[in-house]
Amino acid sequence: MQPIHTRLDNSAPAADGVLLDVRNLQTHFFTDEGVVKAVDGVNLTLKRGQTLCVVGESGCGKSVTARSILRIVPAPGEIVSGQINFRKRQGGSIDLATMNPKGREIRRIRGGEISMIFQEPMSSLSPVHTIGSQIMEAIMLHLPVTKREARKRAAAMLDLVGIPRASERLDAYSFELSGGMRQRAMIAIALACEPQVLIADEPTTALDVTTQANILDLIRDLQQVTGMSVLFITHDLGVVAEIADEVVVMYLGRDVESGAVDAIFHDPKHPYTRALLQSIPRYGNHDRRRLYSIKGIVPHPFDRPRGCPFHPRCDDFIAHKCDRIDPPRQFIGREHSVRCLLYAGAPELNSDKELPS
Ligand SMILES: Nc1ncnc2c1ncn2[C@@H]1O[C@H](COP(=O)(O)OP(=O)(O)OP(=O)(O)O)[C@@H](O)[C@H]1O
Ligand SMILES: [Mg+2]
Repeated sequence: MQPIHTRLDNSAPAADGVLLDVRNLQTHFFTDEGVVKAVDGVNLTLKRGQTLCVVGESGCGKSVTARSILRIVPAPGEIVSGQINFRKRQGGSIDLATMNPKGREIRRIRGGEISMIFQEPMSSLSPVHTIGSQIMEAIMLHLPVTKREARKRAAAMLDLVGIPRASERLDAYSFELSGGMRQRAMIAIALACEPQVLIADEPTTALDVTTQANILDLIRDLQQVTGMSVLFITHDLGVVAEIADEVVVMYLGRDVESGAVDAIFHDPKHPYTRALLQSIPRYGNHDRRRLYSIKGIVPHPFDRPRGCPFHPRCDDFIAHKCDRIDPPRQFIGREHSVRCLLYAGAPELNSDKELPS
């Protein structure tokens, strides 16, 4: 075990330039079968102009985190605790978690200040409206412009995202575009009002690798032009290595590790992060061993393990400790945090009576 100077989470630094600061967010689904703790204590900090990647296996709560930020969690989902502090464009900070999800203010923020692009553009684009009218609708909802000006801006947006013959394409329907073009059109809608934050939820997963690379380049270029911050959700660490400034690794609704991309890739602390990194196929690796895969499966959300949620799959499992104590979030560097008892210096627990409530 490495001797590491740790600091408990209750004094997380609120650094300058922070645009979005999610603290201990919990979003649960109250289903007939029981409570699904989809997001169960997530912290993330997005700085101005930076890209924060949220990474983790399927079902770990990435999309529910994104939807919670925009307050579009479907019923029976509910934010049960935590804060989503957002610095508004005109100054001042608000807690999105406390807002009325149907109110005027959040509708102004959605699309106007924080936009989202989804994994499957076909399900988010309307099949019965032209691409142009969908971009114009987004523009006219947030900006005081005439229909003519909105159309001009919509064409400029399509041009900006690299759609050729933009003014003609305004009149096309989504089914007339290729997958890559559709995703570009989604990005055009999302960026039409120059949001401060773009949330991209696995925007390239459904695309072939070349188109995926083009879309990533596009997002990066647009970020350079507009200065927006990007919250990028993916399960692909190759994508993370390419675009992230900061990384949050999620497991069963929690941030198990977060830090700068270099720290996560070159000095990962959590056994789950290490296992994820080991499971990336590497080009030029002539070793004929099978690709590493994390043992076991993600537990069913109703069947959350006691103690550290990762302990049944962990190679560094410590008996009578990891199966009993839920690890707190600790800082092991200025902005590098981990939830793991290897670093906690936590007390040994000998009996069930001593279990924390
Ligand atoms: N409407 C819902 N009702 C009940 N449970 C839900 C609902 N939506 C999501 N969940 C549950 O919340 C958990 C987190 O789901 P989420 O969609 O955030 O995962 P994810 O990390 O985005 O996964 P993926 O990589 O597959 O997109 C899952 O256990 C999922 O089954
Ligand atoms: Mg998802």
